[in-house]
Amino acid sequence: MSQYVAGLEGVPAVESTISTIDVENRRIIIRGKSLEKLARENSFEEVAYLLLYGEMPDRDEAKAFGEELASNRTIPDEVVGAVKSLPSNTHPMDALRTGISMLAAYDRELDDTGLEANRRKALRLIAKTGVLTGNLDNLLQRKTWSQPFKEHNHSENILALIKGKPVEGWAAKTFETLFILYVEHELAASTFAARVIASTLSDMYGAFVGAIAALKGPLHGGANEKAVEVFEHDVAGAERLVREKLARKERVMGFGHRVYKRGIDPRAEVAKQLLEEACRIVGDDRLYRVGDHVERLMEREKNLYPNLDFYAAALYKLMEIPPRLYTPIFVASRTAGWAAHVVEQQAENRLFRPRAIYKGPVED
Ligand SMILES: CC(C)(COP(=O)(O)OP(=O)(O)OC[C@H]1O[C@@H](n2cnc3c(N)ncnc32)[C@H](O)[C@@H]1OP(=O)(O)O)[C@@H](O)C(=O)NCCC(=O)NCCS
Repeated sequence: MSQYVAGLEGVPAVESTISTIDVENRRIIIRGKSLEKLARENSFEEVAYLLLYGEMPDRDEAKAFGEELASNRTIPDEVVGAVKSLPSNTHPMDALRTGISMLAAYDRELDDTGLEANRRKALRLIAKTGVLTGNLDNLLQRKTWSQPFKEHNHSENILALIKGKPVEGWAAKTFETLFILYVEHELAASTFAARVIASTLSDMYGAFVGAIAALKGPLHGGANEKAVEVFEHDVAGAERLVREKLARKERVMGFGHRVYKRGIDPRAEVAKQLLEEACRIVGDDRLYRVGDHVERLMEREKNLYPNLDFYAAALYKLMEIPPRLYTPIFVASRTAGWAAHVVEQQAENRLFRPRAIYKGPVED
């Protein structure tokens, strides 16, 4: 058997044309294009299309794709009712996972793993995950349901559903840029989980349910909800909190990354710039000062750098989005990345079936 590497650290597990992390040049490449640039200059719809079809849409294709997404936002009443019936203290990630699982029963193409059927399911899943995400607090806390805002694009619609009214200006633009930054990140744990499930030729909904469960963990997507803690304080309070955590050998969420070991996550760099711009617009730079101070402290004390979740948490806080929704928003964005990976996996499938090095007893 070949050499064992714990956590498959650095081990290539798939060949892919979807994305790569260029650590040396500190950039993320999506289908040949810079993610940072896509996030600043393109719409989520264009990036989702790029992920699913491998090339940028022209204006007509982008418009048609956006319209298709908008016309697939309907959620069956039974799914709405089931999520609404969950206890109000259910974590929105669990509610979202349940809702997506139920949606499978309403997709007539569920078991068709062909390329075109998979792309159609991807579109439906992206659309419906967005609407469910925007409605999670409505369903769990208020036991109500808000219809999507027809005239808004995908990310504007999610933000509008969360806020209960359309949002414009810096918050809408920043939300979409962040949403795109979250869209795809090579073989993160949740994406790998989705590919493993897809490799059994199981359905895309099942792959997403597994991926959502993987993303919920605080070492992965769940970190953004926890990272907001330091931003509840002023600079001195944040420093005290971080020092206490380090003294207790606790992890400071939003720092460290399996792939970026020697510098800031390039997505976090963009998010930090967004935070600086947003703080300037709202005329209060506390969150930026706290973030920058904690970043320097963590570098000095632990040689650790922020990942996207750190500055995303500050931005969502500035937008007054409840922390429990931070990770579901990550899900709603990453659906496009997961879908591209499921499509790619099933188009050229090889079942994942690694081996274990047995350390247990063997009876004679
Ligand atoms: C993301 C993460 C799991 C990557 O971990 P990894 O590359 O496997 O690194 P390890 O878990 O082996 O950690 C190496 C050392 O750094 C420490 N460390 C890593 N991240 C840390 C953090 N956020 N805060 C404090 N210490 C941290 C570990 O405790 C370990 O210290 P030790 O050698 O004294 O035991 C890890 O950095 C982490 O838990 N970060 C916080 C969660 C987070 O932000 N996740 C989102 C990732 S995008």
